[in-house]
Amino acid sequence: MMTATVKLVSRVRRLGCVLAFCFLALFLWGLPGARALDNGLAMTPTMGWLHWERFMCNVNCQEEPDSCVSEKLFLQIAEIMASDGWKDVGYEYLCIDDCWMAPERDSEGRLQADPKRFPGGIRRLANYVHSKGLKLGIYADVGNKTCAGFPGSFGYYDIDAKTFADWGVDLLKFDGCYCDSIKHLADGYKHMSLALNRTGRSIVYSCEWPLYMWPIFKPNYTEIREYCNHWRNFADVYDSWQSIRSILDWTTSNQERIVPVAGPGGWNDPDMLVIGNFGLSRDQQITQMALWAIMAAPLLMSNDLRHICLEAKALLQDKDVIAINQDPLGKQGYRLRKEDNFEVWERPLSNLAWAVAMVNLQEIGGPRSYTISLTSLGQGLACNPDCLITQLLPVKRKLGFYEWTSSLKTQVNPTGTVLLRLERAS
Ligand code: GLA
Repeated sequence: MMTATVKLVSRVRRLGCVLAFCFLALFLWGLPGARALDNGLAMTPTMGWLHWERFMCNVNCQEEPDSCVSEKLFLQIAEIMASDGWKDVGYEYLCIDDCWMAPERDSEGRLQADPKRFPGGIRRLANYVHSKGLKLGIYADVGNKTCAGFPGSFGYYDIDAKTFADWGVDLLKFDGCYCDSIKHLADGYKHMSLALNRTGRSIVYSCEWPLYMWPIFKPNYTEIREYCNHWRNFADVYDSWQSIRSILDWTTSNQERIVPVAGPGGWNDPDMLVIGNFGLSRDQQITQMALWAIMAAPLLMSNDLRHICLEAKALLQDKDVIAINQDPLGKQGYRLRKEDNFEVWERPLSNLAWAVAMVNLQEIGGPRSYTISLTSLGQGLACNPDCLITQLLPVKRKLGFYEWTSSLKTQVNPTGTVLLRLERAS
């Protein structure tokens, strides 16, 4: 009787393994063949800092010298990125957004930095940033003007690409305001991509092409991936839970279209991390960090690193969560299910590991428990025949070994997330 049970159990296990293999094969065969922009960059999502959400278009250096868009701000942030552990965990690109330019091009048609706010010019700033072991990002626009009304690159793509390369720029965020037509938008994004490549300098190309296409027609992501290293799909992030939720909702509604196209060299960009600012509670900051890791999103912080609380700093510098974001397999995660105001997300990782996030979307009451059956995770593979589970957020905790047929009960705070890493045990 005893041996019969053991045999049955082992046969069920074997069947589980065979099924799991079929799932794996299907999953791998289902992979997209989309070619990425061939510049060898962004093999994992870009990490760094971008000024827009926190500092916007503040050009009033007279009255607000510490928070206006100026050379001083970038020099200070560069210094901190290098000395406060940011660079060490991977935040490498220090990026300027809109409002750095002088209102006119120079006599040779080149863009120039506002001489009052950037007295040393961009080349000198780039040198300083490089001396700190960091890289410099800059901003321009495919249309006639930038979104804030500074000179656009239309008609100047080659000159601007060359200017940025001459200055030693390492990333270009190329916005899509003030375009006359969809053709102008598409031709412009492609033209700039080729122009950047022709400079011979390695410049990450960050696009907003699909965002500006969506209102007119559905973007061709296979094509976008051939020209851009990452691309914004949806509206600007704000410092609020409503904004984070709307980005997650948009992502889940479109996941069948956008998840397969992400991979080394080309990523969906759900916009900046606003952790460390004013609008998100502790739990909501955890949700943003966990879900940006699951989504294989560029991690571009927009906050004031000169004044950031220790909790936010520790969250942004969490090496285990960053490792999920930067996983070399480079597959974007997706929402697996939504029930009872909980969302379960999962992301396949290298070495057959998986990341799983449980989000509690209920905005009333206290922590709620959610029980998940492990057979349902990772296309039946994550825990087959067993796995080692580590909770990474809200706090790191080893949960131990689990069998395929077992389940896991978690407690999740309102608007918070529990992030897990599942590794194969045998
Ligand atoms: C657009 C972009 C933002 C920012 C601003 C700058 O709104 O989506 O990320 O770059 O322009 O004006």
